[in-house]
Amino acid sequence: MARILSGIQPSGVLTLGNYIGALKNFVKLQNEHECLFMVVDLHAITVPQDRLALRKNIKELAALYVACGIDPQKSILFVQSEVPAHAELSWILTCNASMGELSRMTQFKDKSAKQESVGGHISAGLFSYPVLMAADVILYDVDMVPVGDDQKQHMELTRDLAERFNARFGETFKVPEVYIPEQGARIMSLQEPEKKMSKSDDNSKNIILLTDPPNTIRKKIKSAITDSETTIAYDPVNRKGISNLLEIYAVITGEPIDALVTKYEGKGYGDFKSDLAEVVVAEIEPIQQRQQEILASGEIDDILDAGRDAAMKMAVRKISKVKHKVGLGRKR
Ligand code: TYM
Repeated sequence: MARILSGIQPSGVLTLGNYIGALKNFVKLQNEHECLFMVVDLHAITVPQDRLALRKNIKELAALYVACGIDPQKSILFVQSEVPAHAELSWILTCNASMGELSRMTQFKDKSAKQESVGGHISAGLFSYPVLMAADVILYDVDMVPVGDDQKQHMELTRDLAERFNARFGETFKVPEVYIPEQGARIMSLQEPEKKMSKSDDNSKNIILLTDPPNTIRKKIKSAITDSETTIAYDPVNRKGISNLLEIYAVITGEPIDALVTKYEGKGYGDFKSDLAEVVVAEIEPIQQRQQEILASGEIDDILDAGRDAAMKMAVRKISKVKHKVGLGRKR
């Protein structure tokens, strides 16, 4: 049994990409492994957030984890900022990270360009974002981190920072492996399938939100860009649109892509898209209902309290060891 950890930002409503690339795998993994899942609110504030909206999003995301099938009896579910060791370790790692390696992070380049384009300031937190992510992971001696493809570079940095610390201060951290699912690790935009589906996309037709009502989901899938061919085929290089839709279908139903291609032989995009829309609605609608029930019941606070206490126990031990190795504070 391995120890697994992952996190999602409470920075607005999640997309089908987050669900397929992350949440759906988490649920599978928790049956075989010791799992910790976080609502990473400290990461969310690397770009401006409305205070009340952030509070609401934190609880909604926690409820979404549970609605998707994260079982608080099996997994530890907690809010990152409620375990102070994350911020403490992040600072210590920041002092061992270089400006050069952080400026090479493509997500920083993308996000800072976006902030600039709307006239916003680029926070130093956005720059050191991946160091906090490294702290989240190595604080718990995690074996494996399940994430979508866009987090690969951050995980390489995490490994580098863990190895560097170990080399400098003596063996302290486990060096984690990244786990990127073979399918669904990069769900693409519906209208511009050359870019990934992202919750910060300004064009709502590009993304399926996990809060979208069934009819909106149906409309968005039906108007998804395909191409001028007529066959349902998988070719993610030349036929990005239809390949993305096939991937969504395959991951949700568990049917292999080859089998889907055979099933839709001789049929057109219209038939395929109507079926896919129903597949997505059937997956998402019950989750939406469960999320509302969980929020209404008030149980989420108890779940997060227990998660915080369990995570804290593990984190406190590690952070005191780290401080000792670095020479912080007084020896007693
Ligand atoms: P975040 O909140 O941006 O995204 C959460 C998860 O969703 C995945 N994802 C996708 N997967 C497939 N297709 C897409 N279009 C798509 N868009 C997003 C992301 O890869 C991610 O797995 N830095 C992380 C949060 C984090 C974290 C951590 C993760 C903070 N600390 C420690 C793992 C371990 C992030 O911003 O995810």
